[in-house]
Amino acid sequence: MLDGKKIVLGVTGGIAVYKAVEIASRLRKLGADVHVIMTRAAKEFVTELTFREITGNPVSSDMFAPVAHYNVEHIALANLADVMLIAPATANVIAKIAHGVADDMLTTTALATVAPIFFAPSMNSNMLSNVATQENIKTLTSRGLHLIEPASGHLACGTSGKGRLPEPCEIVSVIDSFFNEGKSLSGKNVLVTAAGTREPIDPVRYIGNRSSGRMGYALAGEAVSRGASVVLVSGPSSLEAPEGLKEFIKVETAGEMRAAVMSRFRDADIVIKAAAVADYRAKVIAENKIKKNAEEWTLSLEKNPDILKELGEKKRGNQILVGFAAETQNLIENAKAKLEKKNLDFIVANDVTKPNAGFNTETNLIKILSRDGGVEEFPLMKKSDLAKKIFERIEKVMEK
Ligand code: PMT
Repeated sequence: MLDGKKIVLGVTGGIAVYKAVEIASRLRKLGADVHVIMTRAAKEFVTELTFREITGNPVSSDMFAPVAHYNVEHIALANLADVMLIAPATANVIAKIAHGVADDMLTTTALATVAPIFFAPSMNSNMLSNVATQENIKTLTSRGLHLIEPASGHLACGTSGKGRLPEPCEIVSVIDSFFNEGKSLSGKNVLVTAAGTREPIDPVRYIGNRSSGRMGYALAGEAVSRGASVVLVSGPSSLEAPEGLKEFIKVETAGEMRAAVMSRFRDADIVIKAAAVADYRAKVIAENKIKKNAEEWTLSLEKNPDILKELGEKKRGNQILVGFAAETQNLIENAKAKLEKKNLDFIVANDVTKPNAGFNTETNLIKILSRDGGVEEFPLMKKSDLAKKIFERIEKVMEK
């Protein structure tokens, strides 16, 4: 998704430097060619070696070191950049760039480049709200530099407020959106659920199912590659989250999944519920491990909320809602009933009795049922290829 894009990552000396390591790693995983410039202060927190290992490129910092890898290094980096990203950006570096000061490799490159510059301020909230910093930020944005707004929360100085560096996935998502504007889903917010939920019985046991998360993760990855801003809400899974997500939320129970989904539903243009949500949960969760004294054990269950049904009831006209139906019998009838009952735009019917289809497999066998009664059948395919087919269908619905 960032294949071959050359990103010069400027890293300045703040406590959030550790997040820059993850930013470099995420950009690299998306295919970007990342070149890191560190200030002297940044090197007090993290060594060059870390960034060199992660990016596979030499790290630049010293203006006067013998030139080993680039001709006139700051000019070469300035010319090579498709984008320059400064994260974290301290008050000091923001001030320097705002005033055209070029006294180290990072500020010199920032002055010399004509590539778009993104900067993510990170500092104590009083430093951030200080008039000098605010004016400097305003100066930079008025000159066309792109501000990545700081987040609020607990700060390293022990206080709370605005000034945190946003999470690496959010920063990478901004860069990803910049390059992927114009793609079929750019500007769209997609919410995907994946994997099974777990309902605790006691501290060591739970009710669960065989969902691995593969289908949902493939859908989230496909949405990212189509330029969408993607939130993935996932039950327990051993898979790595696709790169480029706006948000990755791990949940355990249906209740937690419901809370995560409901709070983000308003902003979503497209919702796909590929998760295998437990329909029931234990009525009482035992405080201690239940002993196996009795020959028989009856567990009382109560119904979990049907998240998809609730979404169907709340759905606005311009939102697209896609469900899955995992069936072992009467595939079409059962899936059709869910399509109607949950007010979906279409449903992906999954015959989970077939070999290499359904739970915990690389491939799947699906039929797409639409509201007009149409049924589109697909042969056994990789879940990543089916994700493409599902998004092709979503884009057709969007055109209507
Ligand atoms: O994760 P994998 O190993 O790749 O497996 C993929 C899959 C088989 C899990 C996936 O393809 C699939 O079929 N997911 C839906 C599984 C399921 O729970 O189906 P269902 O028929 O029970 O539910 C119907 C729909 O309602 C689903 O979209 C489900 O997310 C939703 N639901 C169900 C119950 C509930 N309490 N809340 C819900 O939102």
